[in-house]
Amino acid sequence: MPDRFYITTPIYYVNDIPHIGHAYTTVAADIAARFHRMAGADVFFLTGTDEHGQKVLQAAELRGVSPKDHTDIMCTNFKKLWTALDITNDAFIRTTDKDHIDTVREMLQRLYNCGEIVKRTYEGSYCTHDERFWTDKEVIDGNCPDCSRPVETIKEDNYFFLMSKYQDRLIEHINKNSGFIRPETRKNEVLGFLRSNPLGDLCISRPKKRLSWGIPLPFDESYVTYVWFDALLNYYSATGYLAKEHKQTYWWPADCHIVGKDIVTTHAVYWPAMLMALKLPMPEMIFAHGWWTIDGKKMSKSVGNVVDPLAVTKTYGVDAFRYFLMREVTFGLDGDYSETALIKRFDTELANDLGNLVNRSFAMLSKYFNGIVPETTEFDIELKELAEGISERLKEHLKLLSFNKALDAVWELVSFLNKYIDSNKPWALAKDTNTAQKLAVVMYSLVEGIRFISVYLYPFMPKFGERLYSHIIGEPLSSERNIHEKLKWGTLKAGTVVTTIEQLFPKIENERKEKVVEEKSTTTVVEEKTDELISIDDFAKVKLKVGKILSAEPVPKSNKLIKLSVDTGELRQVVAGIGKHYTAEELVGKTVIVVANLKPAKLMGVESHGMVLAASEGDSLKLVTPDGELPAGSVVK
Ligand code: MSP
Repeated sequence: MPDRFYITTPIYYVNDIPHIGHAYTTVAADIAARFHRMAGADVFFLTGTDEHGQKVLQAAELRGVSPKDHTDIMCTNFKKLWTALDITNDAFIRTTDKDHIDTVREMLQRLYNCGEIVKRTYEGSYCTHDERFWTDKEVIDGNCPDCSRPVETIKEDNYFFLMSKYQDRLIEHINKNSGFIRPETRKNEVLGFLRSNPLGDLCISRPKKRLSWGIPLPFDESYVTYVWFDALLNYYSATGYLAKEHKQTYWWPADCHIVGKDIVTTHAVYWPAMLMALKLPMPEMIFAHGWWTIDGKKMSKSVGNVVDPLAVTKTYGVDAFRYFLMREVTFGLDGDYSETALIKRFDTELANDLGNLVNRSFAMLSKYFNGIVPETTEFDIELKELAEGISERLKEHLKLLSFNKALDAVWELVSFLNKYIDSNKPWALAKDTNTAQKLAVVMYSLVEGIRFISVYLYPFMPKFGERLYSHIIGEPLSSERNIHEKLKWGTLKAGTVVTTIEQLFPKIENERKEKVVEEKSTTTVVEEKTDELISIDDFAKVKLKVGKILSAEPVPKSNKLIKLSVDTGELRQVVAGIGKHYTAEELVGKTVIVVANLKPAKLMGVESHGMVLAASEGDSLKLVTPDGELPAGSVVK
C-alpha cells in the first residue's frame, strides 16, 4: 500500500441538490481514505464544488443575488451532507477559490506560451444548455445529443487546446498502464473511442459577451475559460493550497480519481491530455462507477424520483446507508436503488447476522464470565487464520475498489462466528465443569473475532466500528494508527471487561409494525374565522417569507405529501400535503409563501422545516404566491 495516498471525488455542480448519486462517489472515496489512514498512510482526500458556468449565473439571476453569493449558499448543501454522512474529506475545493483561479490562469498562460493553445475561427453547433459545441456527426436531428434541446450554429473566434496531437500518446499510456482506467469495460470503451475517431482539439474559451461567469483567460480577458477545463484542474490546484504540510510535488499525481461513468471521457481523455501538455505526471487510476436508477429509471428532478440521502440516513442511520450503497452493487456496475432492498439487507445482514452475533456473544460473556474476557492459551487455528487473513484480502480488494468483495470477506468471519456459536453451544459447555476450559476458548474467540470485525468494518460503517471497538477495548479506534499491526490474533487481553450492549441494528420490520404512521398535511389552508380574532402581536409572531421551490419529489408511500427543497434566503426542506393538487414537476420554480419559524416536524419519517401557504375551496387548492417577482427570502408583512 502506498504510504501517501491522494484520492478525489468529482467536484459537484453547485446548483444541484445533492442526491444518492453524489453520496455514492463520496462515500466510496471516504471508505478508501479511511482504509488507507488506518493502514498508516498519509492521506489527502479531496472533494468540492464546480461553481462556474451559465447555469450557475442563471440560477443566481433568478434569485436576484450575485453568482458568488449564490454559490456560497449552495455549496453548503454539499458540506452539510458530507458531515451527516461521516465523510472525512481533508479539504473542500471550490472553483471560485482565489488560489484555484490563480492556478488555472497560470496553467493557461503556460500552455499558451508554449503554443499548446491557439486562436481559431470556429463554426459549429452549440448547445447553450450544456455550454458546449457538438460536431455535425454528434448532433441528432438538429438537437443536442445530451439534453435533446435544439442546437444553434455559432461562428466565432475561440481558443483551442491542441488536444488532437495527444491521441497516440493517450492510447499508448492506457495500453502500458493496465490499471489506469478501471473497470476494464470503461478502459475498453475509452480505447475504442480513441482508436476509431480522430481526436479533435478542445475549445477552451467562451466569449465574455455570451458567458461572463468564469475564469478570464490570462492572455485575452474578453474570454472566460470553458468550465470543464477549469474544473479538471481542481485536482492539481488543490495540492498547491489545500493540502497541508507538504509541497505540491509530494501530493501530485493523484492515486485515484473516482468518477461516474458519464464523465469518463473528460477524465480519461481531456484531463490526461492536459497533463501531458503541462508536462505533469499522470494520475495512477481513474475509476468510473455505474449509475443508480430508481425502478430502472434515471433519477431526475422532473420525474420526481430523486432520492435524498439525508432523508435515508435519518430513517435508517448513516452506517446502514453507507453499507447498503457498497454492498448492493459491484462498484463499476449500474444498480437499482430501493428502500425494500435496503430494509432487506438491514434486517438480514446487519440486524440478524452482525447485530445478533455481537449481542449473543456479549450476553454470554456476561452470563458465564461476569463480562470478563477469560484467560486462554488455546485457539481455533481455522478461526485465527480466517480473521488475520482478511487484512490482506481487504487490501487487495480495496486497491481495486471492490467494496462488495471486501464486505464478502468480512462476512465470512461473521458467518464463521455465528456457526461457531451454534456448533460449540456455549450454553451446554457451561453446564459441565469438565468443559470449562473449552468454554473459555470459545468465549475468548468470539470477543476477539468481534474485535477484528469492528476494525474491518470501520471504514464502511464508522459509527458502528468505533462504538464496538471502544466498547471492547476502551480506546477510540479512530485514534489508533497502524491498526493493522493490532490485527494479530490474541491481542485482546484476558481480564478485559466487556459489558452487554444494546441492539446495534434493531430490525426495521419490527419497528415498522409497532409504528402507526399518521399522514397529516403541513399545508396551512388560509381560511377566515371571524370568531377567533387574534391581536397584531400574535400575528407578528409568525415569520412569513417568500420562497422559491428548487426541487420537489413525492414522499414514498404517500399520495399526498411532497418533499420540497425551498430557497427562503436559506435552503430548507418542507413537506407539503399538496400532492393531490400539484405534481412534483410543476412545483419546481414556483414562488411560494413559507411559514419560516415553525417548529420542525416529521411527516412519514421526513423532516419538515416550515410550511407553505395555500388557499382552498371545496376540492380545489391553490398555493399562495406574491403578485410579482421578489427575491427568495423577502419578508411577508
Ligand atoms: N461538475 C462535474 C464534474 C467535474 S469533475 C472535475 C459533474 N458534476 S455532477 O454533479 O453532475 O456529477 C458528479 C458525479 O455524480 C458524477 O460522477 C456522476 O456520475 C455522479 N452521479 C450523478 N447521478 C448519478 C446517479 N444517479 N448514480 C450514480 N452517480 C451519479 O459532472
